[in-house]
Amino acid sequence: MTANAKPAGANDRVVIFDTTLRDGEQCPGASMTFEEKLEVAALLDEMGVDVIEAGFPIASIGDFESVAEIARRAKNATIAGLARAIPGDIARCGEAVRHARRGRIHTFVSTSPIHLEHQMRKSQEEVLEIIAATVTQARNLVEDVEWSAMDATRTPLDYLARCVEMAIKCGATTINLPDTVGYATPDEYRTMFRTMREKVPNADKAIFSVHCHNDLGLAVANSLAGLEGGARQIECTINGIGERAGNAALEEVVMALSVRRDVLPYQSSVNTRALTRASKLVSAVTSFPVQYNKAIVGRNAFAHESGIHQDGMLKHNETYEIMTPESVGVTKTSLVMGKHSGRAAFRDKLKTLGYELGENALNDAFSRFKDLADRKKVVYDEDIEALVDQEIAVSHD
Ligand code: KIV
Ligand code: ZN
Repeated sequence: MTANAKPAGANDRVVIFDTTLRDGEQCPGASMTFEEKLEVAALLDEMGVDVIEAGFPIASIGDFESVAEIARRAKNATIAGLARAIPGDIARCGEAVRHARRGRIHTFVSTSPIHLEHQMRKSQEEVLEIIAATVTQARNLVEDVEWSAMDATRTPLDYLARCVEMAIKCGATTINLPDTVGYATPDEYRTMFRTMREKVPNADKAIFSVHCHNDLGLAVANSLAGLEGGARQIECTINGIGERAGNAALEEVVMALSVRRDVLPYQSSVNTRALTRASKLVSAVTSFPVQYNKAIVGRNAFAHESGIHQDGMLKHNETYEIMTPESVGVTKTSLVMGKHSGRAAFRDKLKTLGYELGENALNDAFSRFKDLADRKKVVYDEDIEALVDQEIAVSHD
């Protein structure tokens, strides 16, 4: 598959590139053991992720070994390792991914004036030479080379176009343009990809890729905008873990593509039913809790408390849900009993608990339930059972 200048079509496939084990693991406190990484990688591979960025082989012996072992074990996914634009990094990365059926070297260099001046202390021309040398080196080691322009979104477009052209000329098969500091807006990000695909003469020889950080909470929106600009690979992480405010969340981009096919006509091959399992696994191995209201995988994502919503849900599930819980691997919607719950949900709850009350008893039980709900944040099944048993006892006196 190559990205090209024609408008996106309904059959365009989007490569899902998961970087939970690399960018995700880079966030403070999220480090994983060797065994945990193998477990996460096995699940990503099984659920249909196209590319797994397994780590940064030069970073440590442990990272090298986990990338190499994941590369040996992967059945379907391409296994990528990260390498700075340094010959030693690239050689080490090549050694780690060569065990894979499909191995990728992902090499990157900064391109923005702020990084060139303060971090790299190199001129634009020197960086172009570095791109040529390192991409050529990587391409001599593997067929599949990804090149990233770090801080692409703060790079002047004419210079970025020269860098992209050079990387493709030297053999890069994927061009990733990251929003490294989470600064771009969707419109800017879309335009950056459009411009590259129009300006760079050899643009149709590579797949363009998005990689968005969430500093302004725009990582998923920017990733989707990048697709509209012609990108066909999304880099993301499970639960959106990653540097600072994190990366675009895999479960969110995959479900946006699945639910809004009408306006986002791109296909991913990820099995959406595995998303909750993946979220729980990553949360367990990193000890990073998933916020309750997190889209798709938060514990409230399919929970309803308000009376109006519960009433609607009891009549038809599409009234307040845009996807089924089963589609992301959750058994069922939950109607949480609290002070906002209405009589319809209360009656339904009693039914599932095995109680059939007459109208008067139901009214009494409901008003006692409301009193209790005013005092407690959540009313559990046991509370309701106790309350109804009391009601039944009183009515038998
Ligand atoms: O955010 C970023 O720029 C990165 C690169 C290494 C791809 O993670
Ligand atoms: Zn990143």
